[in-house]
Amino acid sequence: MSDELKKVVILGTGGTISGKGEAGKTTGYSAGSISVEDIIASVPGIEKLARLEAEQICNVASDNITDKEWLRIAKRINELAEDPEVCGFVITHGTDTMDETAFFLNLTVKTEKPVVITGAMRPATAISADGPMNLYQAVLTAACPEAAGRGVMVVFADRIYGGRDVQKRSTYIVTALDQVEGGLLGVIRDEEIRWYYESCRPHTVKSEFSPEGLEKLPVVRVLYFHVDCDKDMAARLAEGADGLVIAGAGAGGTSKELGKTFASLGIPVVISSRISSGTVTQSAAERSGSVAADNLPPQKAAVLLRLALTKTKERDELIRIFRTY
Ligand code: SIN
Repeated sequence: MSDELKKVVILGTGGTISGKGEAGKTTGYSAGSISVEDIIASVPGIEKLARLEAEQICNVASDNITDKEWLRIAKRINELAEDPEVCGFVITHGTDTMDETAFFLNLTVKTEKPVVITGAMRPATAISADGPMNLYQAVLTAACPEAAGRGVMVVFADRIYGGRDVQKRSTYIVTALDQVEGGLLGVIRDEEIRWYYESCRPHTVKSEFSPEGLEKLPVVRVLYFHVDCDKDMAARLAEGADGLVIAGAGAGGTSKELGKTFASLGIPVVISSRISSGTVTQSAAERSGSVAADNLPPQKAAVLLRLALTKTKERDELIRIFRTY
């Protein structure tokens, strides 16, 4: 290993990439069973890309990630980013909530050094496990000088996605991480990265949000609208919550009876769509005194609302924040 190589820090959090199960099988495994050091050791040639330093933040299926881990990762990256020897970061993470973690970090890490999240759809013990290639490409991206300043990225199956726009779009295929609208940041073919697009939404050093001084995030709940949705459901969910996101039908629609309750809940309500594609306009949200999520799917609207509520509860300010990020 050459001392000339740049240092990339890999933060392990678990997921299928560290999953272990019956040899060859792709289901019935336990996510978060193999250490980040062991995943690195399974990737041939990775040591030629960068000097790697590994830290295990946690080792869980990503459905168990909480605001505690989010804040810990963001603070740790902000601390390590001060080290001039460190040129970039990789986070290994389960795919289930990877899109939420990516958006949270995109808004809270304070560095232009590349921060790349990756994972796998097949456990390490499966035939054609996808984790090793994904990790290789993630390290390649984190060590790439041209990756600096592009915000938090997700590298998955040869593609580079922006942390704001990436979503999990399938329960099983190896290209499960994808985005609905907008362009790919880049693609990877062996050791070559080709860059194409950039999000114009502020992130990292240009974001107004910071993890510093926070021990937890405000409580935000998500209400999934459906035919015959109980009109009292919003009021029930609002109890003990700081904010509510509606996964509405179409462009954010709900029944009149349910929509009428939003203004009297006493907490901010953000309208998103259960379609997870396309926009909700402020004019539609205005009718119920709510805030439009723009094109953020419900789970990402919840991330932004939690961060926004660390600063303000004012509706006009929340409208500005959802228009900005
Ligand atoms: C998880 O999100 O931890 C399990 C699923 C996955 O990583 O693909």
